Amino acid sequence: MAILKIARMGHPVLRQNARPVSDAALPDLRQLIGDMSDTMHDAPGVGLAAPQVLVDLRLILYRVPADRVGDGDVVVPDTVLINPEITPLTDHMVLGWEGCLSVPAFRGLVPRHTHIGYCGLRPDGSRVEGEATGFLARVIQHECDHLDGFLYIDRMHDLRLLVHEDEVDSFRFSDYIDSDNNA
Ligand code: NI
Repeated sequence: MAILKIARMGHPVLRQNARPVSDAALPDLRQLIGDMSDTMHDAPGVGLAAPQVLVDLRLILYRVPADRVGDGDVVVPDTVLINPEITPLTDHMVLGWEGCLSVPAFRGLVPRHTHIGYCGLRPDGSRVEGEATGFLARVIQHECDHLDGFLYIDRMHDLRLLVHEDEVDSFRFSDYIDSDNNA
């Protein structure tokens, strides 16, 4: 077990386009995935992208734990997606709270597509494709953004919706909501 160092906002690795993985079945990749899983659970977090642990590869890890399941969501165990590609399947976007292990202590209300298609490789090299909605769609969009050098704050339209994690419960959404925020 290894807990990896997580790059924080400001580190250049978080602003780069990550390199595609050329061989999904590499033994080194198994080690990386195991260490990323340990790191994600230790944090704890619901997703981690390889650039966040200073590895310049297009690989993401994510999960939907029982305590994050919302309406229509299902629990998703630790899942690896290599060289992922996503396609919005609706123009509809909704705001939802996000945090990021590379942006500690903050939460933001971020607009994301509610329904996406995704494809990529599993660690054994097999190809997978599927669709995701709700919280899972949000997590996959967040993690894939890391592979292109984006943080969730880049997706926000109104930085008044960025708050310290200790103030999430005192935040009054109705003070800020307008048509732009709900677009
Ligand atoms: Ni993140």
